[in-house]
Amino acid sequence: MKQVAGDARSSGRVTGFVPTMGALHEGHLSLIRSAKLLASPLVVSIFVNPLQFAANEDLSRYPRPIDADSAALDSLGVDYLFLPSPAEIYPPGFCTSVNVEGLSERLEGKSRPGHFRGVATVVLKLFEIVQPRLAWFGRKDAQQARILRQMVADLNLDAELILCPIVREPSGIALSSRNSYLSPAERTAAAALHRSLLAAGRAIAQGERNSLAILGALRQVLAAEPLIRLDYAELADSDTFVPVPVLRRSAMLLLAAWVGNTRLIDNALIEPETTGFRFTL
Ligand code: PAJ
Repeated sequence: MKQVAGDARSSGRVTGFVPTMGALHEGHLSLIRSAKLLASPLVVSIFVNPLQFAANEDLSRYPRPIDADSAALDSLGVDYLFLPSPAEIYPPGFCTSVNVEGLSERLEGKSRPGHFRGVATVVLKLFEIVQPRLAWFGRKDAQQARILRQMVADLNLDAELILCPIVREPSGIALSSRNSYLSPAERTAAAALHRSLLAAGRAIAQGERNSLAILGALRQVLAAEPLIRLDYAELADSDTFVPVPVLRRSAMLLLAAWVGNTRLIDNALIEPETTGFRFTL
């Protein structure tokens, strides 16, 4: 992979990169389609990164449908699938990691200590191997994207990150490889995450600016779903991810919830515009 990437770079080509953990769905494919338009060669990696899973998390049961994934990448005209083994990425004695301080400790990082250290470390390693000029990430993992953008700036990496919108099912559920864990009843319940964001958005559209009240509208929707247990829901500054008491400028609603034994995340972007706030799910 390093050889191919080095050759592409020295011949002046624009290598595009979409890192994934596989079990590809339309969310991933939307990144790849966007990447196809701007980059050549295009590299997609599939690596279920042990470093970003805590001991009690779903590393061993994370889906790995490699044949279907590989066929999907072929049909989209992806040039290279980079499929390293855990031992190649983390050989015996491996002991260096990257931590984007502050940003990595909030929200998702507070619930999953060490998670973003694992993400930043593997993405830096993958960038070193693939040497992309452009790399695509989804807004579904908004905090992850913000942390990686900080890492790129702080470490002077020569890659530009491109963020893509959240792809959702018709029910509103954000596509996720983890949705495959959901039973039919849980899948129905999971649509409440999206509805709860919509309820918060309606409160904002009606002029509510107080974070507790906005989050109250969101919590009320989730409380009606017995299969859902909220982990966190916050209105946070979209740059620092620090929770804000009052909505005054660009912010995000971010939530994580257990639906049965499956942990899902979702978010909405709230940006000022001339007539109020634009709400992007
Ligand atoms: P993974 O969860 O496989 O996601 C790979 C990329 O797809 C991420 O940038 C993610 O934000 C994006 N994505 C996932 N679901 C999406 C959706 N419904 N709409 C739009 N984009 C979506 O995120 C990871 O893997 C890992 O942390 C990784 C960055 C690969 C490092 O291990």
